[in-house]
Parts: sequence; C-alpha cells; structure tokens
Amino acid sequence: MAPLRVGVIGAGTVAAGHLRTYARHPGVTLVAVSDVSHERLAWAAREFDLARAFTDYRQLLALPDVQAVSVCLPNWLHATVTIEALHAGKHVLCEKPPALTAADAQRMAEAAAASGRTLMICFNYRYRNDTRFVKRVVAAGALGSVYYAKASWLRCAGIPGPQGCWFNRKALAGGGPLIDLGVHLLDLSLWLLGHPRPRSVTASTYAVFGPRGQHFFEGTPAPCGEPFEVEDLASAFIRLDNGATLLVETSWALHTTPGRDEYTLQLYGDRGGAELDVRNYAQTGTVHVYGDMAGVPVESTPSALQAGSGHTAAISDFVDCVRQGRAPAASPQEGVALMQLIEAIYRSAEEKREVTLP
Ligand SMILES: NC(=O)c1ccc[n+]([C@@H]2O[C@H](COP(=O)([O-])OP(=O)(O)OC[C@H]3O[C@@H](n4cnc5c(N)ncnc54)[C@H](O)[C@@H]3O)[C@@H](O)[C@H]2O)c1
Repeated sequence: MAPLRVGVIGAGTVAAGHLRTYARHPGVTLVAVSDVSHERLAWAAREFDLARAFTDYRQLLALPDVQAVSVCLPNWLHATVTIEALHAGKHVLCEKPPALTAADAQRMAEAAAASGRTLMICFNYRYRNDTRFVKRVVAAGALGSVYYAKASWLRCAGIPGPQGCWFNRKALAGGGPLIDLGVHLLDLSLWLLGHPRPRSVTASTYAVFGPRGQHFFEGTPAPCGEPFEVEDLASAFIRLDNGATLLVETSWALHTTPGRDEYTLQLYGDRGGAELDVRNYAQTGTVHVYGDMAGVPVESTPSALQAGSGHTAAISDFVDCVRQGRAPAASPQEGVALMQLIEAIYRSAEEKREVTLP
C-alpha cells in the first residue's frame, strides 16, 4: 500500500509530536508544514527535512499530493482550518478541543460527512495502555454498574505562557483548564462509562493566580503582557441519564504540592472500583482495581503495565483509519457532545445555577 502523504499545520509545541510520529511512521510520507512563525517553520523544515514549508496554510491545502493533515493550531483556528481542509479533500486529525463552541464542532462534523473524508479529534489519553486496560475492566463487567465517577487534573503552577499566550485569551482559547485539560477528562470519563448522556451540570470557575501573574509554567513570572481572561480552576457536578454522577475538577494553578501535575480517574461500581492515578505523566503503577474476595475488600495493581505514549498511538491510529477506510474510535459527533457539555459547564459557572442539557 502506498504511504499516506501528510502535512502538518502549526509547528508549535504539540506539532513536534505529530511531526516526529509521522516522520518515523513506515506508512507515511511527511511532505509539508505550515506555521505563521518563521522561526517555528524554519525549525520544522530543518528538523524534518521538508522542502515545502509555508507561512500560509492555504498553500499547503492547495497541494494536490497532500492526502491528510494534522491541525495543531490554537483552539480558535481548529474549526476554520479543519473545515477548509475537508473541503480541499484532505483527511484531518485535529488537536483537542474540537472547537471553541458546539456549533463549530457541529459544522466540522457536517463538513466531514459531506466530504467523505476522515475527521478525528486527537483524544490521545484514550490510547494509553493504562486507560485501555481500565476500559477492558469496565467492558468485562468487573465493576458492575458504575454509578459514581470522579475525574481530576490539578496543576500547582501550570498556566501556559509566555510562549502560548493565546491560551489565556477567551476569544482564542475558549476557556482555561476546563477546555484545555478538562476536555480530556470529560472525554475519558464518558468513553469509559459507555457514553451516557449528560443531563444537568452545576459548576463553578475561578481565576485567582492568572490575573496576579502567578503560577505560570516553569516559574515564568508573568504572561507576555496579555490579559488573563480565562479561569484557572473549574469544578463541575454532572448528572448522567443512566443515573450515575460525574465529578470533575481541573486547575492550571492552585496552592497545592509544588510541582504537582497529576490526573486521576475514579470509577465506582456496584461490583468493583477502578482508579487511574497518573502523577507527572507516570508510566507504571497507575492503575488500581478494587473488589471483594471471599467477602474481604482487595486491591489489584497490574504493576508491569507500561502506559506508553497515547499521543503516538493516537496519531498512528489516525493513519491506520485513513489507510484502511475505518472510522475513528472517537466520532466527530462525540466532539459535538463534549463541546455542548463544556458550554453547559461554563454557563452554569457564569449564571451560578444548575444548567440542563437538551
Ligand atoms: N492532545 C494533547 O494532549 C495536546 C497537548 C498540547 C496541546 N494540544 C493542543 O494543540 C493545539 C496547539 O497547542 P500548542 O501547545 O502546540 O500551541 P503552540 O502555541 O505551541 O503552537 C501553535 C502554533 O500554531 C502557529 N500558528 C498560529 N496561527 C497560525 C496560522 N494561521 N497558520 C499556521 N500556524 C499558525 C503558531 O505560530 C504556533 O507555532 C491546541 O489546540 C492545544 O489544545 C493538545
């Protein structure tokens, strides 16, 4: 089978992983890159030996031999560029979050359906081996009926900046840690629970450290002079249509253990429980499964399990989906549902009341 010919749009932090994965993939030829930053463009062209490098992504989309693209751009550009790429006949792997709004995510899904091309949102945390193990534990019925779930991603000092200043602007990012980290937590939770529909949300958001210029990544004292317009902590209590509830919390900044950057996912069922506890991107010892044996509570830990790189696995799965004509595991419509939930969480926080989803 001929290799898939791929271009990467955006050559910033996350794009480095896309470029590296494509460059090493035996079923891919990496042919072009685009970034408005001359510096980032020169870096990518040099590092990956790319003769075709454009500051205008439309020139990349106009290349007839590019079959698929990764969209690794700031959030506000996801919908526009993805839809243009689909119209140009390209398959698209778009970084998370799908878009700034559910309406934009819906337009992306419609463009994918109309074009007949693959649209996959990069929900890479689904692809870690520890997460997949928990998925298999749930699917095997080991937890019984899961009625309570908790998902948390807390950082002590992880406000993006100064390089990614757009992260702090509402119009460019859509929000703070909820849309940045929480989107992964919500996706993982709903996926592990078998996609029950959220019915109502009660949420709160806070911006405590960002406006003071504190708790930015790597101790950077202040953002690049841009105003801090998003939350730095969000929490939400979500009722699901199967009767289960989901509690989600996420922060970029918090008075907690210095250096803390960890996510946890906890599923509690009527037959067992499972906890995924990933501290500072740990690779082993992240899963604990609970149950009863002979009437006594027991804990199991698959200690040999290596989590692996979810990002590399997700990008490779996109390549396989396109080459094999297979639909991606995460459908564009799941992206729409996620954005509806994120919008409801922000609305609940803003209006200080419970919000019901349609
Ligand atoms: N899946 C994950 O776990 C994960 C991790 C990090 C980031 N992301 C997502 O990836 C996206 C990019 O994040 P990042 O951290 O790489 O940001 P970044 O700021 O490091 O990179 C964005 C790049 O896009 C370029 N750019 C901006 N406008 C452009 C345009 N019109 N045309 C071409 N290039 C343009 C910028 O110059 C920059 O190099 C975000 O949506 C983010 O949420 C996902």
